[in-house]
Amino acid sequence: MTRLLIVCLGNICRSPMAEGALRARIRAAGLDDVVEVDSCGTGDWHVGNPPDPRAVRCAAGHGVDISGLRARTLVTSDYQAFDVLLCADASTARIVRSRAPDGATAEIALLLDWAGQGGGNVPDPYTGDAAGFETVWTLVDDAARAIAARQRRGRPSVPA
Ligand code: 4NP
Repeated sequence: MTRLLIVCLGNICRSPMAEGALRARIRAAGLDDVVEVDSCGTGDWHVGNPPDPRAVRCAAGHGVDISGLRARTLVTSDYQAFDVLLCADASTARIVRSRAPDGATAEIALLLDWAGQGGGNVPDPYTGDAAGFETVWTLVDDAARAIAARQRRGRPSVPA
């Protein structure tokens, strides 16, 4: 089992969109039983809230329902409960690294780097417009597709 936690600032825009995209790609690849996905934020402003309506609308436009997700913050146990903490951008990664407890085992990486999509940040769309959310979707869904393809290649074949 590979356990992936996607982290952004508010957990209402980028990381729930990435969670939705990745869940959809993982399911389509038949990898539900080998990859676990969750998301959270470094900030606590939106804890318990559903994703931003613009994020919900954007994901729905791509056939993915993220309306049932609820925001939560990054907690100490995440550093052991997950294999990789996939950060939306460099500033998130800095915060995640700075909060790592003793005994942390999770790898901390940028989402787009880890997906093999080249370095870079998923830009924060919160103060922007719908086009910004589409940009985010394209980035996170490309990353999700790449991650699912890699997980499928890495999966041991089932003996006949
Ligand atoms: P996210 O976007 O990190 O992609 O969820 C944001 C959501 C809310 C805030 C900032 C970024 N905020 O400052 O409330």
